[in-house]
Amino acid sequence: MRVLGIETSCDDTGVAVYDSELGLLGHRLFSQSGLHAEYGGVVPELASRDHIRKVLPLTREVLAACNTQPHDLHGIAYTAGPGLAGALLVGAAVGQSLAWAWHLPAIGIHHMEGHLLAPMLEPDPPSFPFLALLVSGGHTLIADIQAHGRYRVLGDSVDDAVGEAFDKTAKLLGLGYPGGPAIARAAARGTPGRFRFPRPMTDRPGLDFSFSGLKTAAALAAKEQVLDPQRIADVARAFQDAAVDTLVIKCERALAATGYRRLIVAGGVGANQLLRERLADLTTSLQVRVYFPRPDFCTDNGAMIALAGYMRLAAGLRDGPGFGIHPRWPLDSLLPVDCP
Ligand code: KG4
Ligand code: ZN
Repeated sequence: MRVLGIETSCDDTGVAVYDSELGLLGHRLFSQSGLHAEYGGVVPELASRDHIRKVLPLTREVLAACNTQPHDLHGIAYTAGPGLAGALLVGAAVGQSLAWAWHLPAIGIHHMEGHLLAPMLEPDPPSFPFLALLVSGGHTLIADIQAHGRYRVLGDSVDDAVGEAFDKTAKLLGLGYPGGPAIARAAARGTPGRFRFPRPMTDRPGLDFSFSGLKTAAALAAKEQVLDPQRIADVARAFQDAAVDTLVIKCERALAATGYRRLIVAGGVGANQLLRERLADLTTSLQVRVYFPRPDFCTDNGAMIALAGYMRLAAGLRDGPGFGIHPRWPLDSLLPVDCP
């Protein structure tokens, strides 16, 4: 079965073709970060307009690159939520229209389900059940992934998502957008221990997160008339250390609570090198197997949507025609899937 996947939930236009026998055949991504950089964050209307410009050329490109004609496809998957309403509508409209024109079934995919299945695009993929740490610009979730489509959220952020905290902190340090990679680069030049920020909500039981206080701690440390490059790097380092420590502490806690021995990490912040190293250490300290997608598939991409689409379409699920999108869509409200 061969599925075209389309991702347009935020500021990346991603298109990919996944084949159940051959694996990922091709993928293309256009990042709008240059477009939004001058505003210091995503401007929804600009994002929608740019998806309109890019989605069809990228689709043509990826189909040509993997030598696939419309009649070679068996279905189309697009991100139906959560995300920016206008941006989601572009992917949904294009996905549904192509499916109608090419007489194919179509399915709307939950963006975070795409992220959590992304490690399955790698060699030696994890099997269900497992624990998932999903860390992106819009979400910070720890979830019990019991089976395909059977998800239980164990911890969530009560305020900012961790990626959002990276982005806001980078903005106040003048490091630009997107903030995650910019903070990581600056932190590499930072002095260890010059600042120490709190590890929010680790001093009480539970798996929820709060990252807005951490951003405020960084703002206070950066409050200087002249913010010299070394101070910026030191604040970035203290911020990254505190954010990563907090995520690791909560993962350890969730692993102990569930007894799971498999952990997957996905979403844009999963591309963070320090987080990857700290979680990889759990392999020896807790005998836990940790699975990451390659960094390019941690951040938004079409491949994860094509894979998630294949898994749902192969189980017989499909959406009727119409541009149903869900800008807010709880992960644990999805229908369970009987895997093929
Ligand atoms: O999953 P994603 O591409 O889009 C959303 O679904 O939100 O995640 C984007 C987020 C942004 O907040 C970005 O700053 C963060 O992931 N990010 C990182 C890194 N690369 C991207 N955060 C920390 N370190 C990174 N290397
Ligand atoms: Zn994402």
